[in-house]
Amino acid sequence: MVSVFGYSQNNEGIKTVKIKPKAEFVAELMSKMTVDEKIYQTVQFTSDGTVTGPKSGDNFITRIQQGKVGSILNATGAKETREIQRINLENSRLKIPLLFGHDVIHGYKTIFPINLGMASSWDPKAVELAARIAATEASSAGVHWTFAPMVDIARDPRWGRVSEGSGEDGFLGIQMAIANVKGFQGDDLSKNNTILACTKHFAAYGAAEGGRDYNTVDLSERVLRETYLPVFKATVDAGVKTFMTSFNEISGVPSTANKFLLRDVLKGEWNFDGMVVTDYTGINEMVAHGFASDEKNAGELAMNAGVDMDMVGGVYMNYLKKSYEEGKVSLTQIDDACKRILDVKYDLGLFEDPFRYSDEKREKATIYKPEFLNASLEIAKKSLVLLKNSNQILPLKNNQKISFVGPLVSDESNIIGSWAALGDRSGFATSVKEGVTNYLKNASNVTFDNGVEIKSTKRDWIQKALDNAKNADVIVAVMGESENMTGEAGSKTNIDLPGIQKEFLGELKKLGKPIVLVLLNGRPLTLSWENENMDAILEAWWPGTKGGDAIAQTLFGANNPNGKLPMSFPRNVGQLPIYYNHKNTGRPYLGKSDSEQKYKSRYTDVDNSPLFSFGFGLSYTTFEYSDLKLSSDKIKFNEKLKVSVEVKNTGNFDGQEVVQLYVRDLVGSVTRPVKELKGFDKIDIKKGETKTIAFEISSEDLKFYNLEMKHEAEAGKFEVFVGGNSDTDIKAGFELLK
Ligand code: NOJ
Repeated sequence: MVSVFGYSQNNEGIKTVKIKPKAEFVAELMSKMTVDEKIYQTVQFTSDGTVTGPKSGDNFITRIQQGKVGSILNATGAKETREIQRINLENSRLKIPLLFGHDVIHGYKTIFPINLGMASSWDPKAVELAARIAATEASSAGVHWTFAPMVDIARDPRWGRVSEGSGEDGFLGIQMAIANVKGFQGDDLSKNNTILACTKHFAAYGAAEGGRDYNTVDLSERVLRETYLPVFKATVDAGVKTFMTSFNEISGVPSTANKFLLRDVLKGEWNFDGMVVTDYTGINEMVAHGFASDEKNAGELAMNAGVDMDMVGGVYMNYLKKSYEEGKVSLTQIDDACKRILDVKYDLGLFEDPFRYSDEKREKATIYKPEFLNASLEIAKKSLVLLKNSNQILPLKNNQKISFVGPLVSDESNIIGSWAALGDRSGFATSVKEGVTNYLKNASNVTFDNGVEIKSTKRDWIQKALDNAKNADVIVAVMGESENMTGEAGSKTNIDLPGIQKEFLGELKKLGKPIVLVLLNGRPLTLSWENENMDAILEAWWPGTKGGDAIAQTLFGANNPNGKLPMSFPRNVGQLPIYYNHKNTGRPYLGKSDSEQKYKSRYTDVDNSPLFSFGFGLSYTTFEYSDLKLSSDKIKFNEKLKVSVEVKNTGNFDGQEVVQLYVRDLVGSVTRPVKELKGFDKIDIKKGETKTIAFEISSEDLKFYNLEMKHEAEAGKFEVFVGGNSDTDIKAGFELLK
């Protein structure tokens, strides 16, 4: 059978043939399509796989047989996708291939650390590699499209979805987002190992009131443009091909019908030529928002605002034709949506070969390649953040008697984290126990006991754990959350260690042994008690398939911790939201030494500062910063300022340091944050070695949305800070001249 549109099909599959250039090809195809067929392209159905909301109702295969679907969510595997594609091609009048989408968030089968963990690496190259590998595996299983990167700035760890993003800062977020887009999409989308990326959730989903998922967002346009939008824009500039709208409203308008966001900003100002999909039933939900009178009306609002594809909601499928006939949506808009969808199908090479990505042989040869698993280990090692290390209790020594305890010590399931696509858990992922045994070879000096469970109050195992711990030189407690406590719909008001884990730590503490706390979790937790009572704390997030090896190698010193926090850790939930780049206020509190303690912007019961700051993370060695130099104390708008600083490794280990550069604009036509990250460099420094690190600043880096909402830098005085975290007070000043 030969299709009019290029590819030819035979019993062995498909022979690819050269087709016309995109614009010509898509225009010709669309000239043959009926309005109904155009609308079908905007319909995404879910397979019977993973769902994050209500299902579409009817069996999706029936819809495909009716040729009524443009894209399928969550069908995976070369065999399954090939079969579904075949059914589609047999039934679609014009043989338009289906687009298969799946949430490949931090790996497909080989699972990398959760995204918050990867952001802790401050290593965009490593993150790009993780996305590249994820795309290679997913594409071999027929997946064309991932719903990542999630680029929502998150300042409130009560929100469970902080685990999926890169934390609280836009500058770091941009580096991570670009790395993801490059990794997923590669340099040529038509290659069989690249997939479409999707920037989500547009926009400001992370600013939900009270950190409660799906909740209301109310922001000024200035804050929206300055804090939340730049990372989205950066992905457009990096060539991302798809965008997803967010569930929330912003200042009364749900994102899924937000003309300002979608038409004016995204498709207008930013010239985005890709395709916009809703989040799961996002159109339907506008009825509950009280923004649409019914689903049909919701569909009209969405289409008119610039939403091209309806994820699973069935609204476009059920009502768009009627809305068109009634003149509520125009053919121009339907055409535009359809064209954008066909364009990405073309970019993927699906019109040349709709089965390009569904190749069982390649799938078998690709999944879990040893080098992928090795990359997962290496990235996990970069994502661990050492929060405390009193008396250099870490690294552990091979000959110490060590008691490993805690509900996550033998865990092979939670360790790969929430939203781990098709990653195998029990029986495949490496637990801490396995990692320690792999590392030590002879583990006769170590014991492993759960002691307690993650959440329950069961006390039956505590005594045995204490009996073993009594005889140890050091105790390592592996504790934290279960993976389903974070991620979508995982908001919490209490972000302490769950269950009776803290109580168990208290019992262990009574034994008088040094205790190392290793944390497996998906959000910043409140750790004030732990910080006072534990000797060392290693934040391991959910480190992925090889997480147990990464943790063991780090505990025993084969890896020197080098991660830095991408989010502030609060002292208690009452401080939330908390972020380093806050404003000064008219009554800034200068801390305990402040001569005026009253009538200052402060809490009377707890310090303003976080327990662990953005950018913070220790190493087994120490670094000393000195000799901060600016090339001048004045620059003009067209000049560059050179900033340099000496960093010396003053400890006993070779190490890596993330040298961070912050800027403060002292006076503006609108107030400016007390510090803003403007550069970072992750460097290797051998023990005893000193390195000079240089950065450049120009007026481009100093731009903000001024009083007239123009994105410009303003002449005046600035401070430059450098250091190993956002708390640094190593600074110098310069002036930007008119
Ligand atoms: C809902 C989530 O909000 C979104 O991030 C995800 O991509 C879709 N479900 C599809 O699974």
